[in-house]
Amino acid sequence: MKTALITGVTGQDGSYLAELLLQKGYAVHGLLRRASTENTSRIDHLSGRVTLHYGDVTDSLSVLNVVESVRPDELYNLAAQSHVYTSFAVPEYTAQADALGILRVLEAVRLPGLDCRIYQASTSELFGDAAQSPQNESTPFSPRSPYAIAKQYAYWTVRCYREAYGIFAVNGILFNHESERRSELFVTRKITKAAADFAFGRDEPLRLGNLDALRDWGYAPDYVECMWRMLQQNTPEDFVAATGEQHSVREFCRLAFARAGVDLRWQGEGLDAVGMDGKSGKILVTVDPAFYRPLEVSSLLGDAEKARRLLGWVPKVGFEELVNRMTDHDLSHKTRSKDAELFYKDS
Ligand code: NAP
Ligand code: GDD
Repeated sequence: MKTALITGVTGQDGSYLAELLLQKGYAVHGLLRRASTENTSRIDHLSGRVTLHYGDVTDSLSVLNVVESVRPDELYNLAAQSHVYTSFAVPEYTAQADALGILRVLEAVRLPGLDCRIYQASTSELFGDAAQSPQNESTPFSPRSPYAIAKQYAYWTVRCYREAYGIFAVNGILFNHESERRSELFVTRKITKAAADFAFGRDEPLRLGNLDALRDWGYAPDYVECMWRMLQQNTPEDFVAATGEQHSVREFCRLAFARAGVDLRWQGEGLDAVGMDGKSGKILVTVDPAFYRPLEVSSLLGDAEKARRLLGWVPKVGFEELVNRMTDHDLSHKTRSKDAELFYKDS
């Protein structure tokens, strides 16, 4: 039986990856950070099957201790402050977790001389303001946030340790992937929750930022399969994972609202844009500059040809199915959203 350790096991990807590895017969361990509120809701259904260890990727000693006691065959470093907008508010912490976190992990494997394969959760945000589209493994980086800059440090650290010490460590350069387990701080879930809220009688409009941002959105369970495949190769290499399809925030909204029974019609541009109920004319979506970022990444589109060719990986869930799954989930769970991003307006 192989042993895997997942940092970030309580997150969207960590929870799906834990499920996948359990299905494959792994002994699964996870790094859990202490929180004053309950933070295991995504993995509570795996209770007793995943062994949790308290630790934090900003704390070298805890990383060393947990890695040495688990002695994993595979280590998936998913822990991160993963919200791009928030990284402008907490840039130093973001660097501690997202840049130095993997350095601590690599040293925890290198110092005791463990034979352990390492996956680093790298990101399409590295491409930022990319000069070419679509982006693949050889596209130059142009990061545009403290988050992306921290992840760029992590990317090069993985390559350095791979070449300097022969450690099997890889970067998975993953484009956006979403699911029913996505936090409401990200635009997709914010939209699907709001679309369902309107079906339950929400009155106030949904406030969004840049409606014209373009992303390559896939389904998270497909992407954790790709992570695992990257660690089963004979030689360590970096891979892009993406759907190869690009859609706007506006389009995401229109489909989610349609699934919830609302014919959303757009009018106007920029700050004046509104989304109206095609039947009643009521304004359901407005633009609020509080959700504009200090620097925006306006367009990302991935080319995952290398993953298809060498890993045999092709994402199964397409854009429309993704939107439908997320919206259906929120329609079937009648809880009003908390407007999780409201604090940006006040801060
Ligand atoms: P997520 O839902 O925000 O999960 C992040 C995980 O990291 C959570 O388990 C969180 O714990 C944990 N964490 C945060 N800071 C930590 C610290 N200091 N020490 C230990 N654990 C810490 O993110 P995700 O969507 O699953 O993404 C997983 C990884 O992939 C992240 O590194 C993200 O940057 C990267 N990524 C994501 C995407 C995407 O579209 N989802 C695309 C490219 C790359 P709590 O539960 O306690 O908060
Ligand atoms: N969050 C949010 N809220 N984003 C909005 C909103 C809003 O109200 N309105 C428009 N957007 C736009 C953002 O400006 C951005 O261009 C796009 O929607 C996507 O934003 P997010 O869903 O917050 O995700 P992200 O693309 O910034 O980052 C995600 O994907 C990266 C991979 O490309 C995260 O998962 C990162 O961790 C990941 O690395």
